[in-house]
Amino acid sequence: MLKWGLWGVLAFLTYGGNAQNPKYVISVPEPPLPTAPPIPTPASPNSSHAMGNAEFPFNVGGIFPDLTVTAESAPKRSECGIGALMAWADNLYMVSYLSVPNAGNGTGLYQINSKFQMKKLANHSSTYANRILHKESNQIIIGAWAIDSKGNVQTFTDLLHVRVTATAEHLTESATKIYMLGMDGPLWECDVYKYTCVQLFDLVKTLDIPADQGEQPHFKAAHTMNGRLVVASNTFEEADFLGYQSGGRLAEWTGPGSNWTILERTAFVEVAGRRNFGQVIYALGWDYRSAILKVFQGGAFGKWQTYRLPKASHAYDHLWQTEWPRIREVETERYLMDMHGMFYELSPLGWAGSTWGLRPICQHLRMVPDYASYRGFLVLGGNQVSSIFDNNVVTGQAQSGLWFGKTDDLWSFGKPQGWGAVWRRDTLNSDAVSDPFLMTGFDKKVLHVINHNKTMAHFSVQVDVTGAAGQLADEDWVEVTELETTSSKPYIWYVFPTGFSAQWVRVVLKNSLPGNMITAYFNYS
Ligand SMILES: *[C@@H]1O[C@H](CO)[C@@H](O)[C@H](O)[C@H]1NC(C)=O
Ligand SMILES: *[C@@H]1O[C@H](CO)[C@@H](O)[C@H](O)[C@H]1NC(C)=O
Ligand SMILES: *[C@@H]1O[C@H](CO)[C@@H](O)[C@H](O)[C@H]1NC(C)=O
Ligand SMILES: *[C@@H]1O[C@H](CO)[C@@H](O)[C@H](O)[C@H]1NC(C)=O
Ligand SMILES: *[C@@H]1O[C@H](CO)[C@@H](O)[C@H](O)[C@H]1NC(C)=O
Repeated sequence: MLKWGLWGVLAFLTYGGNAQNPKYVISVPEPPLPTAPPIPTPASPNSSHAMGNAEFPFNVGGIFPDLTVTAESAPKRSECGIGALMAWADNLYMVSYLSVPNAGNGTGLYQINSKFQMKKLANHSSTYANRILHKESNQIIIGAWAIDSKGNVQTFTDLLHVRVTATAEHLTESATKIYMLGMDGPLWECDVYKYTCVQLFDLVKTLDIPADQGEQPHFKAAHTMNGRLVVASNTFEEADFLGYQSGGRLAEWTGPGSNWTILERTAFVEVAGRRNFGQVIYALGWDYRSAILKVFQGGAFGKWQTYRLPKASHAYDHLWQTEWPRIREVETERYLMDMHGMFYELSPLGWAGSTWGLRPICQHLRMVPDYASYRGFLVLGGNQVSSIFDNNVVTGQAQSGLWFGKTDDLWSFGKPQGWGAVWRRDTLNSDAVSDPFLMTGFDKKVLHVINHNKTMAHFSVQVDVTGAAGQLADEDWVEVTELETTSSKPYIWYVFPTGFSAQWVRVVLKNSLPGNMITAYFNYS
């Protein structure tokens, strides 16, 4: 849909309705009524009517080949992802990244102007996926650079050879300092006027990550709100999948004089939140059961809640495979959330201690390390061709492009589908209550329940109709059905009726022997 929309607009602006005279006519005082522009054939190399017109570079379906970032073909060959995108000072700023520092060349900091012309502002051979607006100094910080409101660029030289994964506001000296989080665990405090950094913590040690047992630290996000700095590391290896070791972390720190608190010991990739609207902090993660949405209710509530989401793909399960699911505001006061191969609509708003109205938009296979709005477009970053140290011998030069479209084009991407467990080989006692699992927005739904001990057990399948998730006294969970496993029938499934939906669903183990091993797995198609 977008493809033809964009072609049409470009064709009209470049031709002005006159196919013989390819001239930009927007300023002609009394233009003749435009005739319908010819529909170009994308397959032909000369099909873009914009070709040869420097104002409007060639594009196909929202992809502008001139706006591609590449790494060099000479070794080392690793990766060239687009780590951060941010509209600022009339331009779109962008940073590309290698997989690790010095694993290649060609990556940089870029500026894209309103004519879709790209300029490389700096070369680097490192890894960056951080961006923030530092309001007090009126600079954005992206990668190892600070850019003021006139477009002047300064460099944090201490960060030129490290991996910077996130930037967050300072808890006590926010006017002059910010936190920078390194993917490998260092947390720095940087001065936004001197562009110098000092390391405060090695979070691998502080958060007890068993790096010496094969659990590679892999910090991905940080955010400061409600008087706490929240950080996420998405370590997830074979041992995490099998469930006998936990390398990932979600953790928070309330500043000097306090200790870090580990909130979760599984992979977490994103932390985000607005300062107003109930001061909700959202954090995204996953385990071998399903994807996880943690919600910190600000103000008087001051507590974390846990929700579970289906995975739309298993191609995001290993720590290296998640480049980098984000929660970003792409329309004013509306979040677009990306998690495990699915885009969601999410309100930044928290009412009555709960989050409301999360729903899936589409599934996708695109790697979208960052996304932003720029001049009416939703711009999706990418991470497309990566040989990663020649582990993939059918790719050549590492490169990534941008996709320009409109936010609501996403509804025409893949149908929301997914699967995931609330319990997977979990040892439970009677009265165990599962986390809420997202139900709304999916078409056909089935629940599989397995009692691995092959004994009698009773289950209540319950839904939350409104989205209150148990937070409002008069809008409690309601039972849809009861299920029973027996020694002869330890596996049972329940198909939700066609057209049946609710916001959240959960399972309650009502009656069983203590210590039964249970799996409750949802499949949405
Ligand atoms: C494409 O455009 C070029 C340059 O204007 C021209 O020389 C060439 O003949 C065109 N090719 C086709 C297939 O129209
Ligand atoms: C890549 O850049 C580094 C400096 O960051 C330089 O030392 C190295 O020679 C470059 N390699 C190639 C192949 O250009
Ligand atoms: C980046 O490096 C290339 C190759 O060495 C050089 O031609 C180019 O001028 C550099 N760009 C900047 C902005 O320094
Ligand atoms: C922080 O942890 C240390 C070591 O466990 C403990 O001795 C200290 O009392 C803790 N401090 C606070 C403020 O909880
Ligand atoms: C259920 O099975 C698991 C795994 O085999 C076992 O560890 C557990 O003790 C069993 N529970 C009961 C009540 O027999």
